[in-house]
Amino acid sequence: GMDYRPLLPYAAALEMIHCYSLIHDDLPAMDNDDLRRGKPTCHIVYGEDMAILAGDALLTLASEILSRPLPEVDPARQLAAAREIMTGAGEMVRGQALEIAAGSRTIDLPLLRQIYYGKTAALFKAAVLSAAQLAGAGQRQMAELAVYCLELGLAFKMAVDVLDVRGDEALVGKRLGSDQKNAKITFVSLLGCEDAAQQARDAAARARQAVASWDEKAELLRLYPDFFVQRDH
Ligand code: IPE
Ligand code: MG
Ligand code: MG
Repeated sequence: GMDYRPLLPYAAALEMIHCYSLIHDDLPAMDNDDLRRGKPTCHIVYGEDMAILAGDALLTLASEILSRPLPEVDPARQLAAAREIMTGAGEMVRGQALEIAAGSRTIDLPLLRQIYYGKTAALFKAAVLSAAQLAGAGQRQMAELAVYCLELGLAFKMAVDVLDVRGDEALVGKRLGSDQKNAKITFVSLLGCEDAAQQARDAAARARQAVASWDEKAELLRLYPDFFVQRDH
């Protein structure tokens, strides 16, 4: 119910963290990828040294932006929102580290869930809970939103894994089948396609349920989960 425009620096800060995570993720020492969103990755264009620094700079600038006073927001609320974003950033790093530490060792379902809790759900949580803090949400609402983000994050990743197997390359706009080619452990490789798709729908339903009692202003939140699991690209 708030005017979001004065809060956009917080959205930008989160997006900077998102971009830094992808620049570092693509580095030769990590995934060694040369293409992102259909374009050459940062280290391909600017060199590895500059790509490392670009990531460092984005993370540093994000925290500087979060510390700038926001007009019309109670400073305690603002601090809580900044903390949600930096907590999510740390959890994202934890997810990345868990994945690297697991290496080629077999990843089981609980570990895969933990990895994607960090890599995916935590940044959804940072986005949603920081906005909720800025809007003055109460404790119960925060708890419901945390459940919402966890389920939404897992539904999202499960749906992505199903799309990698079942999707139409022309619609999705990127190479499909890459998980199998790279022998990646995914929800599909652990559960099979049918079961992964069903679990994605179940997680989406739990996400919707978490905010079921909210008024009509939350309708968009209730639509996202199904949008994620029903999309074909
Ligand atoms: C990258 O994860 C996302 C982060 C958490 C930084 P992945 O390595 O699994 O995904 P893509 O395929 O490079 O986007
Ligand atoms: Mg990676
Ligand atoms: Mg990667």
